[in-house]
Amino acid sequence: MDSFEVIPTGGALGAEVRGLDLRSKLDGETVRVLRGTFLDHCVLFFRNQEISQEDLVRFTRYFGRPVPHVRPQPDRPIEEIFVISNVTEDGKPIGALGSEEIPFHSDLSYLPEPGTISLLYALEIPDEGGETMWANGYASYEALHPDMKARIDGLNAVHRHPIDTLNTPEPTMHPVVRIHPETGRKLIYVSPHLTHHIADMEREGGQALLDELITHATDTRFVWKHRWQVGDLIMWDNRCTMHRRTPFDDRQRRVMWRTQVFGEGTS
Ligand code: OGA
Ligand code: MN
Repeated sequence: MDSFEVIPTGGALGAEVRGLDLRSKLDGETVRVLRGTFLDHCVLFFRNQEISQEDLVRFTRYFGRPVPHVRPQPDRPIEEIFVISNVTEDGKPIGALGSEEIPFHSDLSYLPEPGTISLLYALEIPDEGGETMWANGYASYEALHPDMKARIDGLNAVHRHPIDTLNTPEPTMHPVVRIHPETGRKLIYVSPHLTHHIADMEREGGQALLDELITHATDTRFVWKHRWQVGDLIMWDNRCTMHRRTPFDDRQRRVMWRTQVFGEGTS
């Protein structure tokens, strides 16, 4: 097995993995241990990687099936690579998500089968801003008062993307308290960006409850922030975390490659 070191961030979640060069294939045992490490920390990052799109897709496959572009993007030879960028060329954006703040969300939670794992590889980063932070849904659930746990048990929420054309015709619902399919642990699964309302609750009470849960789940004690360096590859588990990006100056360039795994476990 290839040896690697795992250095927890010391924050609410996440660990750095040192000692692996992701240009090379990893052996089966290394992948098995890495999957377990990923489930333990929810977010893993690898620094100073100089990888190609093929390398990123190969690495993604160790954790599930990477899907082609999740939204319309220019045709590219490697269709599993989705570009996240504010850069425009010939007046056309080369990628998605611009330079604005992106509020906390779990990827693709507006779909019936949301994203499970996302990976982001940094090619160009701005001097300031454009940082990404993750919130630990297990930790925020575990910190809830037992009365609140009882209150939200069995509730569902409707998730919806603000760009309506991305939504499915039928409203997408997910449990407010979700059970991670691999770890069996409970977590809070609502977000300010993509959770629209709590199902079957009288409007005002539902909104107050949703606001309270979101405020709790995004409290700084459950959040860890990553300051990007070029060559960072980060992978995160959308089933137990949400993430947010801070805005940055649109005159600066930020270019990332992203891959996305849907619907399948890591094992
Ligand atoms: C994403 C996303 C945040 C970022 O790719 O799903 O939310 O920091 N990106 O670019
Ligand atoms: Mn996202």
